[in-house]
Amino acid sequence: MTQLDEHKRKVAEAALAELPAEGIIGLGTGSTARFFIEALAARIRAGAKYQAVATSEASRAQAEALGIPLLDDDGPWEIEVTVDGADEVDGEMNLIKGGGAAHTREKIVNGASRKNVIVVDESKLSARIGEKWPVPIEVLPFAHKTTQANLARYGTPTLRMHGDVPLRTDSGNFIYDLAAGPIHEPSVLEMDLRALPGVVETGLFVDRADIILVAGLHGVRRISEAGSSQAK
Ligand code: 5RP
Repeated sequence: MTQLDEHKRKVAEAALAELPAEGIIGLGTGSTARFFIEALAARIRAGAKYQAVATSEASRAQAEALGIPLLDDDGPWEIEVTVDGADEVDGEMNLIKGGGAAHTREKIVNGASRKNVIVVDESKLSARIGEKWPVPIEVLPFAHKTTQANLARYGTPTLRMHGDVPLRTDSGNFIYDLAAGPIHEPSVLEMDLRALPGVVETGLFVDRADIILVAGLHGVRRISEAGSSQAK
C-alpha cells in the first residue's frame, strides 16, 4: 500500500468514531470513501446495526458485495452521518467534490444527513478552493455546448471524457470541469452556476461539512467549526 493509500485508510477508519451506535449511514464515493465502506462492513460483521444509502453505483456495488444493508434510492431517509471524500478543502470548510462524477447524488445525501464527515489527506488542503482543482459541473447532454458557452463566463469549461466519448454520470449526464481559479465567494458562484439552464448540479459544497478529518504524517487532525484537534 502506498503512503497516500495508508493515509486514506487511516482517515477513513478514524471516521468510525463519528458514528452513532446504530442507524443509517451515508456512503460517499471515491478511493477514501472505499476504505470507509470496508471499515463499516467490518463493524457490521462484528454485530453493529447499520443500514446505508449509497451515493453512486460504485459505492452501492462495493457495499452490496460486503453485505452492508442498503436502503433504496427513493428517500426520504433519516441519515445520521454521511462519510465522504473531497477533492479540495479550504480554511472555511468549503469543498470541491465530483472528481468521481458523483457530486449530484453526494449533495442530495449530504443534505439529508444530520452530520457530514469529510475524510481527506493533506494534499487536498488549499487556502482557497479552486486553486488546485476545477469545479465539476453535471449538465444535461441536451444542448451541452450551449451550457458550455454559458459556463465559459465563469472560467474554462472542459468536457470530461471517458476514452473517446463524453463520460456519463450514474444519471446519464455529462460533466464539465470548470477551471475558475481561486474562488473568493463560493456561495455566489454556486448560485450563479446553478441558475444556468442545463446545469444539474455543481461540485461546490458550501456550508456542508460538519467535521473534516485530515490525514497527514503526524496522524489524523479533526477540524470542526469549534476548531482543530488531534482525532482519537
Ligand atoms: C466523488 C468525490 C470524491 O469524494 C472525491 O473525488 C475524492 O475522491 P478520492 O477520495 O478518491 O480522492 O467527490 O464524486
